[in-house]
Formats: sequence, C-alpha cells, structure tokens
Amino acid sequence: MFKIAVLISGGGSNLQTIIDGIENNHLNCSIEYVISDKAGTFGIERAKKHNIKTFVFEKKEYGDALSGKILEVLDGKVDLIVLAGYLSILKGDIIKRFKNRIINIHPSLIPSFCGKGMYGIKVHEKALEYGVKITGCTVHFVDEGTDTGSIIIQKAVEVHDNDTPETLQKRVLVEEHKALPEAIKLISEEKVKVEERRILINR
Ligand code: GRF
Repeated sequence: MFKIAVLISGGGSNLQTIIDGIENNHLNCSIEYVISDKAGTFGIERAKKHNIKTFVFEKKEYGDALSGKILEVLDGKVDLIVLAGYLSILKGDIIKRFKNRIINIHPSLIPSFCGKGMYGIKVHEKALEYGVKITGCTVHFVDEGTDTGSIIIQKAVEVHDNDTPETLQKRVLVEEHKALPEAIKLISEEKVKVEERRILINR
C-alpha cells in the first residue's frame, strides 16, 4: 500500500479531498500520519474523525528543530509527504532523505505569486493587484527553496473583473482539490518521471 503523510497548518480542506479520494477508491493509498505545526486546527479534527494518527509539533515550540522532528517520525515510514496548507518551511536533512518524495500545493501558477511570505489570501491579492487574467494552482516537488521545486500539475482559473481575493481564492481552491489528489494518484502509480526541471507524466 502506498503510504503518505500529510502536513497541515489550518482547516485541512485539501487533506479532506485526499481522505475522500481514498474512501471512494479513487486513491489507492493510506494516510499514515497527519502532522500539524499548529495546535487546535480543524485539519487535525478531520484526521481524528478518520482514525488517522496525528501529531502536533508546534512551530513556536520546535523552531528550527521542527523539520528534524518530522523527519524523525516519518523516516522510513511513508512513501510520500504531502504539504497541504503547511506554512512552515521544510529544511535540512528531510529534503535530501525525501528527494522527489515531498509535494506541495500552492494557490497560484508558479513561478508567479510564490516564494517567501506568499501564502493564503495574500497570493490572490497579489494576482488581482497585478491584473492577471489567468491564475490557478500548482502541485510541485519540494526542494531546498520556497515553491521552487519541479512542477508536476497546474490547473488554470480565469480571473473575473468583479473578483475579490476571497471569491478568487474559493475558485482556485476547487481546482486545488482536483490537482492534489491527481498528483498523489500519478505518483502512487509511478506515472511521474523526473527529468531535472521537467516532469514527464505518463497518463
Ligand atoms: C490552500 O489554499 C493551499 O493552496 C495553501 O493553503 C491553503 C490550505 O487550505 N497552501 P486547507 O488547509 O487545505 O483548506
């Protein structure tokens, strides 16, 4: 069974789509752990409801030791780490140990509106500010940088003239909920080939 861990920091709607994908047999994998860097998140409640093992390693308690703590728990235990609204930056040994086995969902078409400090509603504010006509979401491998890993899947979303950051965020989230399970499925079925920066998908 393809084993995954999901890292969250908030509501966990992306986590929920993975849980749903497993329950409706779209995804042939198991969520072994859900780890949050924040206490009291609804995402942790979602995991508990499905008897998934959860850990909370508070960023303010672990600081720079957070990534090492996560590696300690996950090393040798899962095939893929999924960052689903995880707001801390993974760094250190875990990136090497899990090379091309950590993916992240970002709510823009990378390389636009990404990088340090670009997360959540801020991403959509910048997209509207810039006046792009098309935005979207990106699933990418995680490397040593921030939102700089090779791109696996992107989904486009049209920007409407009357969009607010909130209305745009809602439409992008719908596409995120398609892109993330799709990426997990492709990886679990070994249909993703990494050729340096380019990812070849054998659908
Ligand atoms: C999503 O917009 C995702 O793109 C970003 O953080 C948000 C997470 O939402 N990384 P949720 O916690 O999965 O609902």
